Amino acid sequence: MTYLLALDQGTSSSRSIVFDAEARIVAMAQQEFTQIYPEPGWVEHNPLEIWQTQLDTARQALAQARLKASDIRAIGITNQRETTVVWNRKTGQPVYNAIVWQDHRTEPACRKLREQGLEPKIQASTGLRIDAYFSATKLGWILDNVPSARALARKGELAFGTIDSWLIWQLTRGQVHATDVSNASRTMLFDVHRNEWDAELMRAMNIEPALMPRVLPSAAEYGTTHPELLGHAIPICGVAGDQQSALFGQACFNEGMAKNTYGTGCFMLMHNGGKFHISDNGLITTSAAQASAQPEYAIEGSVFVGGAVVQWLRDGLHAFQRSRDIEALAGSVPDTGGVTVVPAFTGLGAPYWQPEARGTITGLTRGSTMAHIARAALDSIAYQSAALLQAMSRDAVAAGAAPLAELRVDGGACANDLLMQFQADLLGIPVLRPAVIETTALGAAYLAGLACGVYRNLDDLAQLWRMERRFTPQMDRARAAELMQGWELAVRKACAT
Ligand code: G3P
Repeated sequence: MTYLLALDQGTSSSRSIVFDAEARIVAMAQQEFTQIYPEPGWVEHNPLEIWQTQLDTARQALAQARLKASDIRAIGITNQRETTVVWNRKTGQPVYNAIVWQDHRTEPACRKLREQGLEPKIQASTGLRIDAYFSATKLGWILDNVPSARALARKGELAFGTIDSWLIWQLTRGQVHATDVSNASRTMLFDVHRNEWDAELMRAMNIEPALMPRVLPSAAEYGTTHPELLGHAIPICGVAGDQQSALFGQACFNEGMAKNTYGTGCFMLMHNGGKFHISDNGLITTSAAQASAQPEYAIEGSVFVGGAVVQWLRDGLHAFQRSRDIEALAGSVPDTGGVTVVPAFTGLGAPYWQPEARGTITGLTRGSTMAHIARAALDSIAYQSAALLQAMSRDAVAAGAAPLAELRVDGGACANDLLMQFQADLLGIPVLRPAVIETTALGAAYLAGLACGVYRNLDDLAQLWRMERRFTPQMDRARAAELMQGWELAVRKACAT
């Protein structure tokens, strides 16, 4: 039997999954880790805790599968993107906590970049818009605020990386400092046409080139794990940011194929082949996971709070004990009773891009209950995703292509039937749930398997995709439009807070 190990380092937890070559899950281990909120709008993780939980889960998954490290053909890494770590090359110690993608402390720095007129250059080179979401200003913040960081960076003593680089560094005990194109494309410093760091942007943002990792295709030989860590050296052959990895795991390899992942946030990506296209509707262009050196792109819409709204109901409002209890609570009422939740806890991402927006609950009456709020919170995930799909379809039509015909879904919250049916109803197109909803991890395993010869080509992988359930739209289109209008009204209120 051939086995591949996927390390899936997400925002809320570190997970490790062993797959067999037929894309079946053999074992899975997961550990949550600490979320650090030092100030309103700031979100940090401890990079050492990230590494430790990741390593622990890898060991646990191997033990659960009753496999030795030598049974694993290759490792694939996928990770929360943009989250920024800077560490000392000699000691391997981080100089500061990881600044998480959700962290908006660098909004003033972004404003300055906009005032300098850098937006067109950034968009043309990186495909992104200027936002605190991306790594560049987070890296700048660390260099400017951690004592002696800039001086050490100039001397080449510090390394920057997104979480993939940090894990590769740890797994190889400092032998390899690398990232892949899909993660690099989230930094706001990467030229996605040439697949190399953009020297002009680095100068403009005052980033020392000596900090940067080497960039490789997503399927490539990155190095091998230090034998002491898992008991045997395993080649690391696949690396991709979690959303591009999910697109790959969903076998969306061709132009026009799209997926939506329901994780901490919600991320809708449509493959755009070799075409670099700038959205007129608030979406961004990003590098897709690339099996070769040939650039490939995806159009992306990112919703900052998706499944995290369920966590907030659980931990903040104590509405229920386990996340999965939301389905029963929300299902206990026929509708939201007029309540709308806009979970703009860290501003709103695509297609609105309103960093100052804040969460709101509107339409409360004396009869509103926690069940209505839970239902509205669940619906907010579907509304935000529907707004992305509308933007994506507008872009596609403007480019002379057909609007999206169906959407593949994955991620934890897509197991929720109520949510998926409402999603299909709002979108007006079928929502397809695959047999394996762990497609983020699967994508990393596929990339690793491609690079080490377990799979011959993308056709091999496309054949492994299996549908578990198809959700067909049942709602009258006029009703869906009316609901979307109500949502947009609530968004305007959230933006005014
Ligand atoms: O861009 C952020 C994204 O990569 C985070 O994904 O699954 O950890 O919410 P997730």
